[in-house]
Amino acid sequence: LIHLLSTEGLSKDILTQILDTASNFVSVNDREVKKVPLLRGKSVFNLFFENSTRTRTTFEIAAKRLSADVFNLDIARSSASKGETLLDTIDNLSAMAADIFVVRHSESGAPYLIAKHVAPHVHVVNAGDGRHAHPTQGLLDMYTIRHYKKDFSNLRVAIVGDVLHSRVARSDIHALTTLGAAEVRVVGPRTLVPADMASMGVRVFHNLEEGIKDCDVIIMLRLQNERMSGALLPSSQEYFKSFGLTEKRLELAKPDAIVMHPGPINRGVEIDSAVVDGPQAVILSQVTFGIAVRMAVMSIVAGNEA
Ligand code: CP
Repeated sequence: LIHLLSTEGLSKDILTQILDTASNFVSVNDREVKKVPLLRGKSVFNLFFENSTRTRTTFEIAAKRLSADVFNLDIARSSASKGETLLDTIDNLSAMAADIFVVRHSESGAPYLIAKHVAPHVHVVNAGDGRHAHPTQGLLDMYTIRHYKKDFSNLRVAIVGDVLHSRVARSDIHALTTLGAAEVRVVGPRTLVPADMASMGVRVFHNLEEGIKDCDVIIMLRLQNERMSGALLPSSQEYFKSFGLTEKRLELAKPDAIVMHPGPINRGVEIDSAVVDGPQAVILSQVTFGIAVRMAVMSIVAGNEA
């Protein structure tokens, strides 16, 4: 693994190697991550052309825990705002001896373009590109599921909400099917579930109650209003009435089901506050596990030269 661009096409062995490596970074209380010297002398550049709270911050923490030097390019104040192209920006940062580029971009495929362009010793990690992929979110979701449920083979997992615009849904589906989840479901209104879902090996539901019935894991997705216009945009109240996860609806899942959400959350739109703050939610654990998972990804790609 030289770059991490998608979970699609990653083998079960590689996915398991990443999860196992991440677990080695976590101490016995499952929370703390110790500082290690694996990336000492390496430079990690965080390039977030789209906003982020969790991903950007946990990549920075992860790089620092690996003893790398970390640089967060302030895109709004960078020369990208004067029209400098993406690849010219990359060339100039490469001239500052970058070893790893962590890239988030609103255009699907931007991290691939960079990966093809950079020198062989430079690594690219996709931190979310358009609606295409968010592989480290997919991996931290797998880490969270494995942490709470141990084994994928008996699990029924529902991914609920705005699947159409969700790079997280795609990354989760590829990882879950490769890791051997018993059943992966996508649940959402017809306008927000893309036509190619059945070909990805998942079951499609357009009714929330049916979709989450007897599930072990429920992954809620944010309504991505910024990627919608006109007819696609449901009102928040309408959406919550049909697809909002409430405590009452959660009773339809298995009693020990966990509730996940990649964040940011729209409380009262796709999920009720009582569920977010309730005992079955593992949403903040996902964030914490993201540090170790991102450490694992960066240490593995940096250990592999082209
Ligand atoms: N889950 C996630 O990608 O959150 P951020 O947009 O805050 O990074």
